[in-house]
Amino acid sequence: MPRIPYAPRIRTVLVVTAAALAARRALRGRIKGSPLWPLPALDHPISGRGREAQAPARTHRLTVTERVAEATGVIRLRLEGADLPDWEPGAHLDLVLPSGTVRQYSLCGSPATPGSYTIAVRLIEDGRGGSQEAHELLHEGTEVTVRGPRNRFPLHDSHAYVFIAGGIGITPILPMVRQAEREGIPWRLLYGGRSRASMPFLAEVEKLAGAGADRVTVVAEDEDGRPDLAALLAGAPPHAAVYCCGPEPLMDAVAALLPDAPEGLTLHTERFAPATPSPTGENAPFEVELRRTGRTVTVPADTSALRAIRDQALPDLPYSCEQGFCGTCQQRLLAGEVEHRDELLTDAERDDSLLICVSRAREGGRLVLDL
Ligand code: FES
Repeated sequence: MPRIPYAPRIRTVLVVTAAALAARRALRGRIKGSPLWPLPALDHPISGRGREAQAPARTHRLTVTERVAEATGVIRLRLEGADLPDWEPGAHLDLVLPSGTVRQYSLCGSPATPGSYTIAVRLIEDGRGGSQEAHELLHEGTEVTVRGPRNRFPLHDSHAYVFIAGGIGITPILPMVRQAEREGIPWRLLYGGRSRASMPFLAEVEKLAGAGADRVTVVAEDEDGRPDLAALLAGAPPHAAVYCCGPEPLMDAVAALLPDAPEGLTLHTERFAPATPSPTGENAPFEVELRRTGRTVTVPADTSALRAIRDQALPDLPYSCEQGFCGTCQQRLLAGEVEHRDELLTDAERDDSLLICVSRAREGGRLVLDL
């Protein structure tokens, strides 16, 4: 058989060509999978809310250095640690309890105090156990892990503020009132609760009223009945910013009164409440395509998309409350119709994102996420 003089060179060319083709195919797969086509898919989104949601909140190991009975059923905790990030009024922490349960608590101390955070925890006897665990296990000297702070309830600039707080809802409001006072911006506060004994930070609130005693209205239901929200809003300066935090019925009542209030009031609320249930009372299974990962996950009727994605594809996907109010699990939506079941996202945010711990595909459809 005649010897082919160029055989080794031909073999080399064939090997190099095959390798180049394989590399091209792999790159194509990444490019096609990218929502940023024609750019290759990235490990993390480079823009949009998906990126914010994926940015892991910083974790800190803190020590409880003070525990005070702030009101009946409410403890105030000071948590100290090194190198803590700054925060602004309205911010909250994710508190990781010794059992691993995560709960959100508003920061209620002073942002100007470096090295410590202050939170208050109301004991909810028939709750899901988080507040009970905090009351039982968090004492001076206990170490805890926290994530954050994060702020889903920021204080926007305004020429005047109306603050409305119910019970433990005073915790995010108090730093806002202090800031408005410091900056000389007119404010009023209505603070309601079941009884004076059950209302945390009452002494400080009454002190804040200072010379302008009519700036603060304290309503203890067992002595004064229900607060007159309509009168408060009717007396608000036009275009004032209204900040409200407390039980759901309080926030719903304020929202319902707003159309009859002076012109241009804007309402800002923070709801730490469970997600809206399905309108039909039942869930349907659906599929989620993870575009950048190149996987499709089936979400059973009795499981959230968050759980299914963590179990089947991305075990480190961040989350916190699993109830649709902290925003940690917000993901960018590339395609599909969503049944939003949270109270957190704005309409604009809902156009291209969802909270995967509670929201689902509409009518058992399919969602495509930038994951
Ligand atoms: S984990 Fe908190 S909103 Fe989804």
